[in-house]
Amino acid sequence: MQLLDGKKLAAEIKAEIKAEVEELLRQGRRAPALAVIMVGNNPASATYVRNKIRSCEQVGFRSVDRHLPEDITQEQLLGVVDELNRDPEIDGFIVQLPLPEHLDEQLIIEHIRPEKDVDGFHPMNIGRTLLGLPAFNPATPRGIVDMLQRYGIETSGKHVVIVGRSNIVGKPLAAMLVQKAEGANATVTVCHSRTKNLSEITLQADILVAAIGRPRFITADMVKQGAVVVDVGINSVPDSSRKSGYRLVGDVDFEAVSEKASWISPVPGGVGQMTVVSLLENTLLAYKKQIYK
Ligand code: GUN
Repeated sequence: MQLLDGKKLAAEIKAEIKAEVEELLRQGRRAPALAVIMVGNNPASATYVRNKIRSCEQVGFRSVDRHLPEDITQEQLLGVVDELNRDPEIDGFIVQLPLPEHLDEQLIIEHIRPEKDVDGFHPMNIGRTLLGLPAFNPATPRGIVDMLQRYGIETSGKHVVIVGRSNIVGKPLAAMLVQKAEGANATVTVCHSRTKNLSEITLQADILVAAIGRPRFITADMVKQGAVVVDVGINSVPDSSRKSGYRLVGDVDFEAVSEKASWISPVPGGVGQMTVVSLLENTLLAYKKQIYK
């Protein structure tokens, strides 16, 4: 078994982005700028947002942290989105999800200008991703495709089985891997909670992607010998041996599955690290106006 080391890869890509930013500054240009809107105090979201802000600092981006109160109204939040839409000093911004119940997530996402939607969640970017047109691809699937490509893992003609059909991972990843394009050309199956005989299908996977959000859901008996296994899950489970009282595990039973896999991504230190890097890359594309001219 070999490790798909997201941490190492992310550090390499961040160094490339940092060098590019330094060159921009040498030319007298301003640094790329990302704004992050977070509503309320969801602890997992707070961790992700901190990580995104810290990653901006590491590569020399300017970051703007817009932390808003839990009880903000829809109208007020749309006002902040408008403000960032209009701000010429902000290249891209994201609204950290999930939002509190009283806010209409889809309506807010659709209010973001597609040119600044570096999360790639606006229907314009999702649609363009499906069509294989230049678009801000959602960060997690982009990170997975880049990770496979950088490790030289062939996808062309391979059977990729994705377990999980979310709008931010499963669906866009399927759209990206099925394209007639380099780093894609896969045969893709998307499984979900209503799939019958799940393990019959996962056993056919040359590349198995677990994005279900259930700790250690994929067990060794569901994996073909020699398969590539990509674990998207980030689940917090109780662990009394840790000072924090918990630890993070993926959607894959890592110990047992590593005995069968040819390649496997760990949690933490796998896909999660690549997701943040893809957000930085999208922000740089927005700054350079490389998606929408
Ligand atoms: N919540 C979980 N993943 C993501 C992500 O990639 N972007 C945003 N905005 N919220 C998330």
